[in-house]
Amino acid sequence: MAIQFLAAERLFKLDTPNTTYIIGVVDDEGYLGHVYYGAKITEGCGLGYLLRTGEAPFVPSKNQREKSSFLDFFPTEYPTGGIGDYRASALEVRNEDGFTACQLQYKSYEILEGKDGIDGLPATFGANDIAQTLRIYCVDPVLQLEVVLQYGVFEDVDVITRNVIIRNKGTKALYLEKVLSACVDMDMENYEMLTLHGSWARERHIQRNKLVRGRQAVGSFRGESGHQEHPFFALVTPETTQEQGQVYAMHFIYSGNFIAQAEVNQFESVRMEMGIHPQGFCWKLNSEEVFSSPEVVLTYSNSGLDQMTNTFHDLYRNHLIRSPYLHKERPILINNWEATYFDFNSEKLLAIAKEAKKVGIEMLVMDDGWFGKRSSDDSSLGDWQVNEEKLQGGLHKLVREVKDIGLKFGIWFEPEMISPDSDLYRAHPDWAIAIPGRVATQSRSQFVLDLSRPEVIEYTYEQVAKILRSVAVDYVKWDMNRQLCDLGSVSLEADRMGELSHRYVLGVYQLQERLVTEFPDLLLENCSGGGARFDPGMLYYSPQIWCSDDTDAIERLQIQEGTALIYPLSTMGAHVSDCPNHSVGRVTPFKTRGDVALAGTFGYELDITRIPEADRAMISEQTAQYHKYHGLIREGTYYRISSWRSNGFYDCYMVVGKDQKEALVTYVQVLGQANVHTRKIKLKGLDPDADYVLEGTNQIYKGEWLMTAGFLVDKLWGDFKSMLYHFVQ
Ligand code: GLA
Repeated sequence: MAIQFLAAERLFKLDTPNTTYIIGVVDDEGYLGHVYYGAKITEGCGLGYLLRTGEAPFVPSKNQREKSSFLDFFPTEYPTGGIGDYRASALEVRNEDGFTACQLQYKSYEILEGKDGIDGLPATFGANDIAQTLRIYCVDPVLQLEVVLQYGVFEDVDVITRNVIIRNKGTKALYLEKVLSACVDMDMENYEMLTLHGSWARERHIQRNKLVRGRQAVGSFRGESGHQEHPFFALVTPETTQEQGQVYAMHFIYSGNFIAQAEVNQFESVRMEMGIHPQGFCWKLNSEEVFSSPEVVLTYSNSGLDQMTNTFHDLYRNHLIRSPYLHKERPILINNWEATYFDFNSEKLLAIAKEAKKVGIEMLVMDDGWFGKRSSDDSSLGDWQVNEEKLQGGLHKLVREVKDIGLKFGIWFEPEMISPDSDLYRAHPDWAIAIPGRVATQSRSQFVLDLSRPEVIEYTYEQVAKILRSVAVDYVKWDMNRQLCDLGSVSLEADRMGELSHRYVLGVYQLQERLVTEFPDLLLENCSGGGARFDPGMLYYSPQIWCSDDTDAIERLQIQEGTALIYPLSTMGAHVSDCPNHSVGRVTPFKTRGDVALAGTFGYELDITRIPEADRAMISEQTAQYHKYHGLIREGTYYRISSWRSNGFYDCYMVVGKDQKEALVTYVQVLGQANVHTRKIKLKGLDPDADYVLEGTNQIYKGEWLMTAGFLVDKLWGDFKSMLYHFVQ
């Protein structure tokens, strides 16, 4: 029983394998309070005292004159605004008369077997024997509003999911001005806040700062999750490392505007919240209409970051990603973007394909520039007709020739966009998101299509689908290269304009849902100027996402470390590119580039007809290595051993098979040092009693030695050098 209602104590107890989450109902008052979240509590439950309702100022029924003091201190399960709790609220509602307060009372609950998705939104799912759902029904009788707090509880992974479903039970419209999906009020324990920060080509760098009194938030109101901040944060106790310390983490299954916030208040309690960013958001809810918020994933670990990481990896592999490719080897691809940029034709692509085939590459991906009159990023988005000057004889001919060579074929689209210089824009200028009368801001010479409009969604879908119906495409890279502003839609009424950003995201989800339904065998890879929309929402549709436009192996160490902190390696698009690297100008050995890219969905992003012969020769080895290790990398347990960002010299991580029979250690010496002895690293996750052979040697090690005493890595000469160590039982 993952979920219990303990009637005598009026407590809801939610249990995962190693954690417990408890919610209490305050008698008479109907307040819902957060009692406990942390390590598993096995015995019954008398923990209601943690709500501190016996302490002054006491619940309002005993002390009405201090109601505000009570609300401002009570650990509220889902706080609402305007009634005297001055901490950050989760829900703000305005009625037609302009009044804004909302107060929820507990009404009833139901426990359901299994964990379903959410209509129109990506969400985790679980079968009846592995998951349960709790719905707590609350009402505000004045607003005639019903709020259902929904919790998913998994029995195979330490995760609680949360979202809310809001229904207007009255006759007049209500305006939802803020709807967050989750809130947890806890006592402050000297926490630090861990977030993933970035920029274009520098995504998801790990950042950790002390939490101080007041509000600390990361967020996006760019219309997508974004390069800059990530819809994830964790509160960790100061001693937290990979192996020890307490970690409370939240991750948002959503691809649009978000806020992730911690507030430390006057009583040394901390409120953790996550949901759609309230800036610019306002959703009109007519009588009997329903609004569902996206889902937040919550996890707790009392043994450091490794455990948090593995919880997220297992959750996403087992309960979120639906693609048939999830547990399959992905074809090794070669993408022509860094090879040619816009300057290509069929002949050039076929030359790349022929060379690629010889060294074990399995798919050619034709990137940006094959449509309209696009020979730079100044035009043609929206005009998805093949440019026959570049692809002489058309797409059919090219695809047939690529297949004759023996490769699969993939293609790039940026379906959500419209260039001012396009036939589509000339025909439908009002299809671009813009504010009438104001010159809309261009970014990369493009506007964003108004996906709040059904006819725009329909057109956009048909543009992509018509091509996929006409030629045998195996893979689509779905890109999104600018963020939203000038938030105006000619089809939304004035009091619905605040819905645009969320409706846009719902439109993207609708498009991708249709795509994977009509083309179930298609391998879809999402992308957004590199990794600006690398989030769990997109993983519901595509099993892999392009991690970053920065393909430099050394830069990638940090980007992939931050990404792998919460995402399975099987989701990270990682390619070997040419040197000097196009983003940073660095020259690294071809081997290192291959070893680093191996930690993701492997591929190449270079002109194979022009790279040095020695590099080309190494590709056959690398493609064979991918086939050998990808099963382990895709399905295994990932451990971070040490980070270059903190030790200054080397990076090391490993993957261990779930059965502990084999492990692959990746070691990168970022900077060489003079006059040092061999470096010792301690491995993790092995069977301590098993004997492991280091492949390529006769050396046998006990799992216990490798983990407790350590392993000596080879002395490497020079910067940017790497080694792979494969241990097998
Ligand atoms: C984005 C992607 C790149 C490439 C270009 C094409 O930046 O991240 O990989 O597809 O767009 O314009």
